[in-house]
Amino acid sequence: MSESSRAELDKETIAKAYARWAPVYDLVFGAVFEHGRHAAIAAAERIGGRILEVGVGTGISLPYYSADVRLCGIDISEPMLRKAQQRVAELELKNVELLAVMDAEHLDFPNDSLDVIVAQYVITTVPNPEATLDEFARVLKPGGEIVLVSRVGAEAGLRRALERWFAPAARKLGWRTEFSFERYAVWAKKTSDMQLVERRSMPPFGHFSLIRFAKRGGAAVEREIQNTATRAVG
Ligand SMILES: C[S@@+](CC[C@H](N)C(=O)[O-])C[C@H]1O[C@@H](n2cnc3c(N)ncnc32)[C@H](O)[C@@H]1O
Repeated sequence: MSESSRAELDKETIAKAYARWAPVYDLVFGAVFEHGRHAAIAAAERIGGRILEVGVGTGISLPYYSADVRLCGIDISEPMLRKAQQRVAELELKNVELLAVMDAEHLDFPNDSLDVIVAQYVITTVPNPEATLDEFARVLKPGGEIVLVSRVGAEAGLRRALERWFAPAARKLGWRTEFSFERYAVWAKKTSDMQLVERRSMPPFGHFSLIRFAKRGGAAVEREIQNTATRAVG
């Protein structure tokens, strides 16, 4: 059975799982994912403008953005989002324009309306990752970027065997363990206006990656795509 056709996550299970995680999420996943969050924010701020954080969760990364970007955050879990709202109020984060319950696969934003889409530790938790990436590409402005930090499954060996063994339990906790980089690469290849521009290994243990896709159209993006092609050849 292929990786994409195997029994997948469903939104109800995910929403229930994150309602349980909400009270302890920052304690359990705060420090361990910090490096990846800072790397994603730095990448997003190179573009700046209006940034959408998909799966913003408890809003743990919101205080780290600079004051001059405009932030929108969406999440499918109301209990996680309530934590984000508290954080924004307590820290008086004036650059946060919107926090809303929304499904990543059906974003209530017009076409070409956002400069950057950031999704940290989210893509492996959605039922239809490729459809979700299509939706990110739809709302992104030409010249904008999708910035992901995501778990990348092992291609072979003991880690892959362990990931497969742990997969059913992981789904109940709210994520997939088995998700190969190939799926991102294939998605980018078949999506004509999107280009994979970076994959960088992230801690813990290099099991995660920062992955950037650029939407064709802006001069800076065309330069970046050209540089990526040159690096790949050289
Ligand atoms: C592992 S947490 C990551 C939270 C945060 N981005 C961080 O850096 O810690 C995954 C988040 O994605 C949200 N999520 C899962 N499926 C979603 C969907 N279909 N639409 C929107 N958010 C979703 C979950 O509710 C949860 O808050």
